[in-house]
Amino acid sequence: MKILVTRKIPGNHLEKLNVNGNEVSVSEFDRPLTAAELVEKVKGMDAILSLLTDRIDGDLMDVAGPQLKMISNYAVGFDNVDVKAASDRGIVVTNTPSDEVNEAVAEHTWALLMALARRVVESDEFVRQEGYFTGKGGYKGWEPDLFIGPSVKGRTLGIIGLGRIGSMVATRAKGYNMTVLYNKHEPDPKAEVEMGIKFASMDELLSQSDFVSLHVPLTEQTRGMINKETLAKMKQGSYLINTARGPVVDESDLIEVLKSGKLAGAGLDVFESEPQISSELIAIPNVIMTPHIASATWEARNKMGEQAVSQILALATDQKPENLVNSEVWEKRRK
Ligand code: GLV
Ligand code: GLV
Repeated sequence: MKILVTRKIPGNHLEKLNVNGNEVSVSEFDRPLTAAELVEKVKGMDAILSLLTDRIDGDLMDVAGPQLKMISNYAVGFDNVDVKAASDRGIVVTNTPSDEVNEAVAEHTWALLMALARRVVESDEFVRQEGYFTGKGGYKGWEPDLFIGPSVKGRTLGIIGLGRIGSMVATRAKGYNMTVLYNKHEPDPKAEVEMGIKFASMDELLSQSDFVSLHVPLTEQTRGMINKETLAKMKQGSYLINTARGPVVDESDLIEVLKSGKLAGAGLDVFESEPQISSELIAIPNVIMTPHIASATWEARNKMGEQAVSQILALATDQKPENLVNSEVWEKRRK
């Protein structure tokens, strides 16, 4: 097979693709390909190992040609791939979900939650501010009212989307004796018993949670679900955490509620138009921003590389890839 890898990935996984006469072409750039570069590079490919920064739509699939059989997306999320267009064409789409990635995202969610509550980033900036070494900076010593925040213990965590990642975030709340509410399409009685959590309607969850954390994929239903109306239902002084996908939150509406003081802060790993971030958001001190690194653990990235490659190797030998996103296509896949 002719395989395009749109960007070099960490680890030695790509070497494994060099079997059975495969021709592997890895982008020479250490950055996302532009749309025009992608168009040039996909031509004649049988498989594409894509990153979440690549937009793979029906037109691109057609440009690639009728031999394109597979898109192996190096991510859990696959909103960057038009899956319906792929299915219509008999093209197999796979992703890289694993405990390692889910754990990494759950841990990062907790890193943001704790950093928000205990004001870690603001405090760090305060300590480092100019003048520290001359005693003219802000930090003069212990002070009774310096950077006070809420205790996490006993507060309520609201989880929107109780998939694998949401569940891992929930189980980690036990150690802090938090009350955990969750919302998904339907209540999950088994999960409630196993994890000691409670189903809540969206309105209940928003109005009762001290921390609201998003764990839904980006779909037409979830796009903009956190907006003026839903933010207005959140508790005064609560926090929003988003390690899912940026467009789930209407960023300008979020900026408004942060400026109004209704929310105490937000922890964001993803943004509406990554990598662009509104200068207004950047200027708000009680927002913690990380550059889409929730899955950036050695363990997760290693597993993602392993999986993205093994999905391609499976298809190359006509075996059903383990992480097929559009399983309906399998029987009528392109050969
Ligand atoms: C990261 O955002 C992923 O979807 O894997
Ligand atoms: C704080 O440092 C304390 O000892 O209370």
